[in-house]
Amino acid sequence: MNLHIIPNDQIQAAALLLRSGETVAFPTETVYGLGADASNPLAVQKIFEIKGRPVDHPLIVHIATTSQLPAWARNIPDDAWRLAAAFWPGPLTLILQRSNRVPNEVTGWQDTVGLRVPDHPIATALLHAFGGGIAAPSANRFGQISPTTAQHVHDKLGSKVGMILDGGPCRIGVESTIVSLTHEETVVLRPGGLSIEALENTLNKKILLTQAAAHNVRASGMLDSHYAPTTPIEIHPADELWRRAHQLAKLGYKVAVLKLSDENKCINSGGITCFQMPLLADEYGHDLYATLHRIDHASFDHLLAETPPATQEWVAINDRMRRAAHSGRS
Ligand code: TXA
Ligand code: MG
Repeated sequence: MNLHIIPNDQIQAAALLLRSGETVAFPTETVYGLGADASNPLAVQKIFEIKGRPVDHPLIVHIATTSQLPAWARNIPDDAWRLAAAFWPGPLTLILQRSNRVPNEVTGWQDTVGLRVPDHPIATALLHAFGGGIAAPSANRFGQISPTTAQHVHDKLGSKVGMILDGGPCRIGVESTIVSLTHEETVVLRPGGLSIEALENTLNKKILLTQAAAHNVRASGMLDSHYAPTTPIEIHPADELWRRAHQLAKLGYKVAVLKLSDENKCINSGGITCFQMPLLADEYGHDLYATLHRIDHASFDHLLAETPPATQEWVAINDRMRRAAHSGRS
């Protein structure tokens, strides 16, 4: 049961704020978004100011239903319709050629646009009440961890946002999978909540995971240092994990360990606090950002994470972990 049913008058108030050019943070099934009227360049600029995000990094436009796709994109290939039919509403963002309606401020002056129909009752209600497209990046400061609860948004953006709709913890907890359909080859620009295998099965072809740079696009999620917690993070295989933890604890550091195991080896000892992470990729993804937020809150000096498995289901998690560890802070 969803304990976070938002009364209709709050949805209407949020829609009114969007219409007047203000921002509204809202839950989706992946992470919380920081939304503004996608047709209003001044409103969209507020998102960049609040996030501290460079203005040439494009935003995803959220729409209520697939039927709105032609209003925002043109030359929509068959594969895009197939993916939309199979996975919308859901954790999939399609990069397509943009229509004239999309302002430059949304796309970072690129001729493509990211579009997604989110799968969350509050996002859906808001999109229907508002009527238009809602441009929304994840509701965090640029380069920091995405929020998966309304509290995370409060903590990091607080009073800067016009309104925060609380829909409880996000079901998936990792951002959407981004698929580019603007070149001959269909490619994944960011692995995420929807597996590449599911895309391949629907399109009946191999789909590559590529770097945005190769496709001449600026996708901020592709920056090596993206998704970084403030606590410096290292990733180690199980046998190395505790040796490193004890080494740092002996030096007087407060150490958090993200232990991936069903065994009873998650033990707290002098200076070391162990966080037991789920063995299933979906559950791990659901918990990851929330756990990183908790660890950041508790002011640890170091975060040591056990290397996740290298299999398909773990692609998005490995991607986020690698970027988090690449923050350059030590
Ligand atoms: O799950 C999600 O995708 C969440 C929820 C709120 O929908 N949104 C999200 O937005 O993660 P953001 O802005 O944090 O990440 C979106 C990524 C960015 O890396 C952005 O650069 C990329 O999508 N992107 C947006 N439009 C693009 C475009 N036209 N071409 C290439 N990349 C694009
Ligand atoms: Mg983001």
